Amino acid sequence: MNETLKVLETRRSCRNFKPDMVKDEELKAIIKAGTYAATGMGKQSPIIIAVTDKALRDEISAENRKIGGWDEGFDPLYGAPVILIVLADKEVPTHVYDGSLVMGNLMNAAESLGVASIWIHRAKEEFDSDFGKNILKKLGVEGDYEGIGHCAIGYAAEPAKDPVPRKADYVYYI
Ligand SMILES: Cc1cc2nc3c(=O)[nH]c(=O)nc-3n(C[C@H](O)[C@H](O)[C@H](O)COP(=O)(O)O)c2cc1C
Repeated sequence: MNETLKVLETRRSCRNFKPDMVKDEELKAIIKAGTYAATGMGKQSPIIIAVTDKALRDEISAENRKIGGWDEGFDPLYGAPVILIVLADKEVPTHVYDGSLVMGNLMNAAESLGVASIWIHRAKEEFDSDFGKNILKKLGVEGDYEGIGHCAIGYAAEPAKDPVPRKADYVYYI
């Protein structure tokens, strides 16, 4: 199996991260891979907000926890020190597909570098609210953006679990 196929097959979601910051060159390479995802008509509808600031990361975790309905003390980002938030321009009809492919690129690029990752949901609710809109405003992002997902990344604190078997009726050949 070539290296790319190995990465695609062995990537697993991490739910226990070390607090150590991701090395800058790794972070940049992962983000760059995200920006090279295919997009409908090449419109590049997504944007990526790379959060490395601990205070903001903790605020996002708290907001995400509230949206998810969990009790205080639970970290829905599982201790990950870096959050790559993918949003996409609602004006573009393929924006959700575009943003999802960026998420896939980020996770697989991370895996290729030995950096663990997980897709954390509820970005839509976060960025539909004033909480998210204020983050965009501070960054000077204009336009109507939908939150697609948070790609939480960092170094794994424990080995990845084996994948569950693929369902028998996943593929149909004709
Ligand atoms: C759209 C999407 C949303 C997800 N949201 C969450 C989430 O909020 N929290 C979480 O722990 N895992 C989340 N996951 C991770 C999935 O649970 C995980 O990908 C799935 O169980 C398969 O495991 P694997 O990634 O190790 O193959 C999400 C995955 C996707 C694709």
